[in-house]
Amino acid sequence: MKRTQLLTTADITREEVDFLINEAEKMRKKGTTNDLKGKVVATLFFEPSTRTRLSFESAAQRVGASVISVADASTTSTKKGETLADTIRVFDKLADLIVMRQSVPGATAEAAKFTNKPIINGGDGANQHPSQALLDMLTMHRECGKIDGLTIGFVGDLKFSRTTHSLLYLLCQYKVQIVFITPDALKIPSEYLDLLKKHGVPYTEEKDLEKHIPSLDVLYMTRVQQERFADPAEYAKLKGCYVLNAAMVKKGKPSLRVMHPLPRVDEITTDVDDLPQAAYFRQVENGLYMRMALLKYLMS
Ligand code: NCD
Repeated sequence: MKRTQLLTTADITREEVDFLINEAEKMRKKGTTNDLKGKVVATLFFEPSTRTRLSFESAAQRVGASVISVADASTTSTKKGETLADTIRVFDKLADLIVMRQSVPGATAEAAKFTNKPIINGGDGANQHPSQALLDMLTMHRECGKIDGLTIGFVGDLKFSRTTHSLLYLLCQYKVQIVFITPDALKIPSEYLDLLKKHGVPYTEEKDLEKHIPSLDVLYMTRVQQERFADPAEYAKLKGCYVLNAAMVKKGKPSLRVMHPLPRVDEITTDVDDLPQAAYFRQVENGLYMRMALLKYLMS
């Protein structure tokens, strides 16, 4: 297996997911390596991020690479009118791998045309966030011991959640069942339902979170994506549409695992945090190992 670009999960096979889960587990055991000694990773983030950028930077350093970073695109020449193409042509000369986040869907795929260096989409608007999907697969595999056979509930803003969108492309290659739980205004776009139909993955669309918790193995909570709303009043109406608390989690199977890509706003109350079911901070740690594995995979 060989690839140099991670732009979307739509072209990732099950075989590749299983390979990367295995590689990430090896990174967990090693802790740090010198695999990419002398290499430079550039993180170029045109949209706010804490976790993803710092997770890639920590991962790069743990595999021996060094990092150059733009955390705030307003400090770059984009502000002076430089095109994305030119920005990428410049980073192509400075770095051995580029991780980029942009608010425009497809922007990283477009940027990839201007560099021959490995490039990773760190999130492009509501479209894709492939490294998050891979770390989510690693988390499910580690927490549940397998992925085949799981019933997974996605809750909240499934219209704009790029982590959900990316994850569905990977999950549809496994024998899973999906329960989408959303208000009407934040339903999963129909293209993802078509994808599940094409792969014969059973799913239902629901509204009542409490009612469905007992049937789930994984509860994947999402934040209402404030930055994607043109109308603040619409966001105000929908934020807080689902709030998961400890009492609700305890009504589920003891083996239920609660995931969240973070940041959390108010979707999960803090009394859930200390339950064994709360997997979201372990998910962050898994992200580090998955990104170490990814950097090595794309650069060697
Ligand atoms: C997610 C993202 O950026 O899409 N965060 C992350 O990368 N961990 C989820 C979110 O912002 O809600």
